[in-house]
Amino acid sequence: MDTKDIQERGSWGSKIAFILAASGSAIGLGNIWRFPMMVGKNGGAVFVFVYILAVILIGFTVMLAELIIGRHAQKNPVGAIEHIKPRSPWKFIGYLGILTGVCILSYYSVVAGWAVGYLVKTASGVFSGEVTSQLTERIFTEFSSNPFEVLLFFLIIIVITTFIISKGVKGGIERWTKVLMPLLFILIFFLAIRALALPGSSKGLSFYLKPDFSKLNGTIILFALGQAFFSLSLGMGTMITYGSYLPKSDNLVSSAGWVCFADTLIAILAGIIIFPTLFAIPGIAPTAGSGLVFKVFPLIFSQIPGGFIFGSLFFLLLSVAALTSTISLLEVPVAYFVDERNWSRKKAAWMIGFLSFVLGVPSALSSGGVKFFTKIDFQNAMDFIFGNVSLAFGALLICFFLGYIWGVRKAVQEVLSGNPRFKLKPLWAFSIKFLTPVAIIIILIFIKTIFSG
Ligand code: PFF
Repeated sequence: MDTKDIQERGSWGSKIAFILAASGSAIGLGNIWRFPMMVGKNGGAVFVFVYILAVILIGFTVMLAELIIGRHAQKNPVGAIEHIKPRSPWKFIGYLGILTGVCILSYYSVVAGWAVGYLVKTASGVFSGEVTSQLTERIFTEFSSNPFEVLLFFLIIIVITTFIISKGVKGGIERWTKVLMPLLFILIFFLAIRALALPGSSKGLSFYLKPDFSKLNGTIILFALGQAFFSLSLGMGTMITYGSYLPKSDNLVSSAGWVCFADTLIAILAGIIIFPTLFAIPGIAPTAGSGLVFKVFPLIFSQIPGGFIFGSLFFLLLSVAALTSTISLLEVPVAYFVDERNWSRKKAAWMIGFLSFVLGVPSALSSGGVKFFTKIDFQNAMDFIFGNVSLAFGALLICFFLGYIWGVRKAVQEVLSGNPRFKLKPLWAFSIKFLTPVAIIIILIFIKTIFSG
């Protein structure tokens, strides 16, 4: 690589910059919206328990694997695999990741746009008068089925994401996440303390944190594992790409550990905000599902003192969290075009940003905007195919590639340059070769059963 190439690729300015950016990718709608929804629908604390196990045993394993591959090759997912195993079909992992990134970005940005729309609504006082569940239901239905509003906020998210990515690693991703992530942490801690202070919060806390193991079943395990991949941004090469900007001196084990920890902490805190609040206000079930955040939160905030401020803060937080994830989703394909096709960063960012917008239009119109897309539930179908199946399949291929094609021994060499002892080596090697692939194969079989039955 000549100097121009290195400048065009960029690198992280410091370890903390990497951890903030990678946590920014991991922490998103998956933590604050999807995780509590999953907990509510899947037995409460028992789901939380399995989820934490899945993060430690499987998520951490795949996270480290992706960082190793990325840092070793200093390239995007396609280039990285080509670098390690030239002219082999394993490059497919990279192409699948790029496709998955563009497709997740398309529908994820629609939901991120909803969050921005709700920020505007809440801050402009739409929920300030008397708020009933019928009202929040009606406002959500009207909002999500209004093509103009939904497309406008969706476009805003895509434009901001593209703008940040076009500015590159140091000037764009790093500069923004350094500001946005600490802000997010402060906001979420603040809201968690506020929720714990609500009268009647202990009932919600025990639903959330006291596991009832008699509820444990295969579906809970399946969803907990799937949620771990989605939430940690694994399986599509995001962490290969972010790892490619890391210096050889970085301790990859501690970096992976920090990102897993920060992501899990935010998910757990999101639950600490949501469940005590839900249980403190009668009439709201934890099983409310995907409408939970948008239909129920304005109602909750309208019933607590200072709700206008907390409500606005909450949707600001959700928008910020979503944005630092959309940035990472766009970075994967952009890194490919910059590295492999010699495109400028600007050109790659705007071309792919535009493509994601076009791809996302049917998702944006599938909550009532256009009958046909609503009927086939386009957005959920995209989430199922790309957010579930494709990520799990990608993670499985990454394990196989690292464990059996490249070889654990060579991968370990990469870790040693920044962590000469690598105490977790035997456990990680066992997990990458056996535990994780077996768990993912079971998930994929389960998904197939659910899909066909
Ligand atoms: N991890 C993000 C979230 O929890 O919202 C979503 C995501 C981002 C998934 C990036 C995959 C990815 F590559």
